[in-house]
Amino acid sequence: MLVLQVKRFIDLISKTFYLILNFKGRKIMKKFFSILLTLFIPLSFTNASKAGGHMEAEVIHWWVSGGEQAAISKFAEAWQDMGGTWIDTAITGGENARGTTVNRIIGGNPPTAAQFNISKQFVDLVEQGQLQSLEEVASAEGWRDFIYPPELIETCEFEGEFYCVPVNIHSAQWMWINNEVFEKAGVPKPNTIQDFIAVAPQIQDAGFIPLALGGQPWQEGLMFDVVASSTLGFPHMAKLYRDKDVEAFRDGKMEMVLQTYRDLNKFIDEGAPGRLWNDATAMVVEGKAAMQIMGDWARGEFAVAGKEAKVDYDCVIPGKEKYVALGGDVFVFPKNSDPKVKEIQLKMASMMVNPTVQANFNNAKGSLPMRLDVDTSAADACMQMGLELIQQPSAIMRENDDWNSPAFTSAWEDIISEFRNDPNYSVSAAMDDLEAVLTSGL
Ligand code: GAL
Repeated sequence: MLVLQVKRFIDLISKTFYLILNFKGRKIMKKFFSILLTLFIPLSFTNASKAGGHMEAEVIHWWVSGGEQAAISKFAEAWQDMGGTWIDTAITGGENARGTTVNRIIGGNPPTAAQFNISKQFVDLVEQGQLQSLEEVASAEGWRDFIYPPELIETCEFEGEFYCVPVNIHSAQWMWINNEVFEKAGVPKPNTIQDFIAVAPQIQDAGFIPLALGGQPWQEGLMFDVVASSTLGFPHMAKLYRDKDVEAFRDGKMEMVLQTYRDLNKFIDEGAPGRLWNDATAMVVEGKAAMQIMGDWARGEFAVAGKEAKVDYDCVIPGKEKYVALGGDVFVFPKNSDPKVKEIQLKMASMMVNPTVQANFNNAKGSLPMRLDVDTSAADACMQMGLELIQQPSAIMRENDDWNSPAFTSAWEDIISEFRNDPNYSVSAAMDDLEAVLTSGL
């Protein structure tokens, strides 16, 4: 009984801290939160072993849209084919799903596996010894010989051991276009963001919403990064996000990017705030809107709607230089005192990198496989574009959350979101606030 009360108490604390950690006093709470993690962790392996029965595995993820569900079902089917039982815990919104995973670990009831992004989102969990090393299977199967691009090894390897399994590459660098809407509006399809802004008024006059957006900080931040990187180029973005180079930030180009970003606002409908990304994609699929700036997980939505790439819709990588952003997903496996669970976790990690599973999953997901020896003959024209680019090292663009902590990226996104939603928030005020984040050490 006592253990139960203690665990309930921990659960309450962790929910409170997670909320504070994400909204107020990030740095201080982050430190306190990690102390909490290490203090209470010995209590937290009581009922997790229930998941260890006959390859029973609970997986937490945030893939709830049509395309995402089609994709995760490929993992579930492969797991069931191996005789496993897949317990699917789908949670809307990446931040919510990741927060639930952390709370479940603290609260003594960790899932078997959980989704994170190719990012620094799970580094704290590694540093506090919360995740199962996958080195046993990684070494046995030679992951270092086939994982591509090599940057993905960096993401998952800590002190020479694998602590996550990369499952795909998703690039945010796309404009998703409804061909018929552009035809009806009588305007050419854009190659750059600026091309789009030039024709958006005619699209509006023709009675269509020019730009579909989900007004959530991560989507607003994604759109900002596509505007910035397609205008300034990856080398400049690396100076900002990797090097925190204030001189580069203040060289006068960022003000222009912020102004371009604000200009897009004129072409986004009033219903944007809070809209889910896939509801914005549906506006383009159904011809209500002309375009969406979104990652290539949008391709999965066009696919489930039976739309054909380059026929019903087009996929344009904006900007003169074409980049493939190294976004995407990994799965981590919270440590468990039950040795049976570890066995299950290593088997699942191996399943997720299997070439056949990779082909089935990525074709449904709209993402690129994490290895080159995968049958991609079913890939449509948009996916083929990504496959070609990913094999050009200079076209691979690492992103903000690849170099920076979740605290940094959410502080940055909060400013971008406020800048988009508040017309009184000036470019110069936004520049000052963004510089403060850049130099914050978050
Ligand atoms: C991203 C994730 C993608 C995609 C998207 C929208 O973070 O990498 O797989 O599903 O969220 O949910």
